[in-house]
Amino acid sequence: MKESPVLQAIYERRSVRHFLETPVPRDLIMTALAAASWAPSGLNNQPWRFAVIWDKPWQEALAGLTRYGHILTSAAVLIAVFLDKEASYDYTKDCQAIGACLQNLWLSLHALDLGAVWIGEILKNKERVLEILNLPDRLELMAVMAVGYPAHRHQKSHRRPLDELIVVEK
Ligand SMILES: Cc1cc2nc3c(=O)[nH]c(=O)nc-3n(C[C@H](O)[C@H](O)[C@H](O)COP(=O)(O)O)c2cc1C
Repeated sequence: MKESPVLQAIYERRSVRHFLETPVPRDLIMTALAAASWAPSGLNNQPWRFAVIWDKPWQEALAGLTRYGHILTSAAVLIAVFLDKEASYDYTKDCQAIGACLQNLWLSLHALDLGAVWIGEILKNKERVLEILNLPDRLELMAVMAVGYPAHRHQKSHRRPLDELIVVEK
């Protein structure tokens, strides 16, 4: 099952919510963002845009917009991922493409020995995120990824068995 590095990364990746204070090299984040940008998109329109937030005052400002703020402030770097509405051709398909981009990002961070968690709860304040970062209205926040070196690797998760998920096989 896990002989492929891709399958291994898919099964090993967990949401990491506790981070070391160890700084994360910028080149690792750029490597992960480049891999994220190789996600598929309808018409290859690549509607994703990224904001990379290293500085604590900005992280703290964003932390005030979610009940998971403690995760945001303990991360080494935050990556906000946006849909560029000017690049959009079909809202549903563009959101799907950004989901693929986020998954590429998450798996790449894992492959680089980094930990991350996808914070969606902050979307309730997506307009405030734009204001704080002084970004234009054409960007719509899709998620914030909190990233750092994991404090531990004991995270557990579970998935439903396949027989609950396959609705028909003929
Ligand atoms: C769309 C989406 C939104 C999420 N939002 C949050 C969030 O706001 N806070 C959080 O701690 N985890 C969040 N998560 C992480 C999920 O809780 C996590 O992926 C799920 O429990 C499965 O655990 P695993 O990632 O370790 O496999 C989110 C994940 C996704 C895909």
